[in-house]
Amino acid sequence: MLIAPAWPYANGPRHIGHVVGFAVPADVLARFERLRGSRVLMASGTDEHGTPITYEADRKGIDPKDFVDENNALIVDDLVRLGITYDIFTRTTTANHYRVTQDLFLKLYEKSYLVKRKQMGAFDPATGRTLPDRYIEGKCPICGYPEARGDQCDNCGNQLDPVDLINPHQRGSDAAVEFRETEHFFFDLPALGEQLKLWIESHDNWRPNVRKYSLEFVRNLKPRAITRDLDWGVPVPLAGWQDNAHKKIYVWFDAVIGYLSASIEWAILRGEPDAWKDWWENADSRHYYTMGKDNITFHTVMWPAILMGAGELHLPDEIVASEFLHMEGKKFSTSRGQVIYVKDVLDQYDADALRYYLMIAGPENQDTDFTWTEFVRRNNDELVATWGNLVHRTLVNAHRNFGAVPQPGTLTERDLVLIKEVEDALGFVAQQLQEARFQNALKSAMGMAAKVNVYLGTEQPWQSIKTDRERAATVLYVALRCVDNLKTMLTPFLPFSSQRLHEMLGYDDMIAPQPSVEDAGDHRIITGEYESQDRWHPSTLEPGHKLPAPAPLFKRLDEVLEEIAESS
Ligand code: MF3
Ligand code: ZN
Repeated sequence: MLIAPAWPYANGPRHIGHVVGFAVPADVLARFERLRGSRVLMASGTDEHGTPITYEADRKGIDPKDFVDENNALIVDDLVRLGITYDIFTRTTTANHYRVTQDLFLKLYEKSYLVKRKQMGAFDPATGRTLPDRYIEGKCPICGYPEARGDQCDNCGNQLDPVDLINPHQRGSDAAVEFRETEHFFFDLPALGEQLKLWIESHDNWRPNVRKYSLEFVRNLKPRAITRDLDWGVPVPLAGWQDNAHKKIYVWFDAVIGYLSASIEWAILRGEPDAWKDWWENADSRHYYTMGKDNITFHTVMWPAILMGAGELHLPDEIVASEFLHMEGKKFSTSRGQVIYVKDVLDQYDADALRYYLMIAGPENQDTDFTWTEFVRRNNDELVATWGNLVHRTLVNAHRNFGAVPQPGTLTERDLVLIKEVEDALGFVAQQLQEARFQNALKSAMGMAAKVNVYLGTEQPWQSIKTDRERAATVLYVALRCVDNLKTMLTPFLPFSSQRLHEMLGYDDMIAPQPSVEDAGDHRIITGEYESQDRWHPSTLEPGHKLPAPAPLFKRLDEVLEEIAESS
């Protein structure tokens, strides 16, 4: 199983609207698959080329490489603290990535998918520099949306060419845009059009947003420029181009190739240089891509087209695209200071509290709104009052009265039904997770936790312990079994607290390993030792198994908390 989270731009630290799309869903899938024994490779990194980078670096008056070095470090920190278990999280500025990108470029070139063409390029008449597509605005030629960007329309989702915009002007001003003739390589997407269309249509299980954007896009395929007038990027590997300091490969072309180049780097670093083929040259492998919806067509058209054109490499299977997360009713916007950084949340709250909120209330199927009130409510009513309380009551009473998993008496019909229901939920949750239906999975697990709480509330083992020790033992035994099963289901979502719970249940091994940062030559990567396990099975906690003293799993949050939405 390949888990391929979209590559964050190295243009700043991540905010929660970013990680809800690419990072947390990917980690939930990766952890789930490893827990049920799949061999997972999760490969990604920072996306360090392109105009979003050069534009910001220019604005700060620093070298693009220094700028991305800084931001790569910040992003790595965000992702490690969130517990995202990348097998490799690298960068697009590595020699390996340049080589793999150029290899694929040449392969497409040799197969005649790349054609040279003159086109009009956008320049700033005041400075003579090229203007990034996304810093040009105008009316969308397809849907008429007045504020479409040069690269893409956020209203209809189509990728655009700035020259097609109606009334183009520079973003945020009336400054003119000048179009001049310039020569570039174009990817002959129409040559793969029919194949792409059939391939997309064959995926009728994709989320509606994914199918919609992708089918619209292939209906109207044009050759697409994959080089740019830029100094910063992967050089074009052809005579006459290679040494031209002002022509580079287009950032989206190199970035999507990152999934492959990172897999190759991972294999090289482990000393098994062909190991990447188990995923990429293996028809039985499954490839899941996670991203925000503004990334969809790059993963359902551009990247598959590159893979089809090159031939013999595994195409995406699942495209898990989230909708947008808004903030207190407004669109997340770094430029307007409407943003909540991952770092700021994690300086104050546990990673699991944030992960839980993002997965239960995030934009899985429609745009959603982040509010601090709701964050606190979900934490207090659900994590603390439902799941945390169930764990705490069960463990405290079992530990205090028995010091171990108690020997049950005869199980009643109700006991047996409850155990069975929770065990069945393991199957249901697995089913939902493999279809990337995170909210269904999480709701089912939390619903079961609520049921076990009701059971404890009526059985009251803390009362019966005084009069009927055997019944108390049985009830606590049943509850412990249920808690152990719920722990398995919640581990992908709540790895930090689940590992602590695992230890409080008297186990001494790892169910939720965490990532770390390592040196990989001239750059650092996120990686880790995350073995595949075979644990997605009903609990086998045996009577007599020792239980250590428990501690609370989650913290209640103050109703009035300090909001960290600050302009920077
Ligand atoms: N950097 C892009 C973004 O943050 C995503 C690139 S995904 C990739 O929106 F696959 F192209 F790398
Ligand atoms: Zn549009």
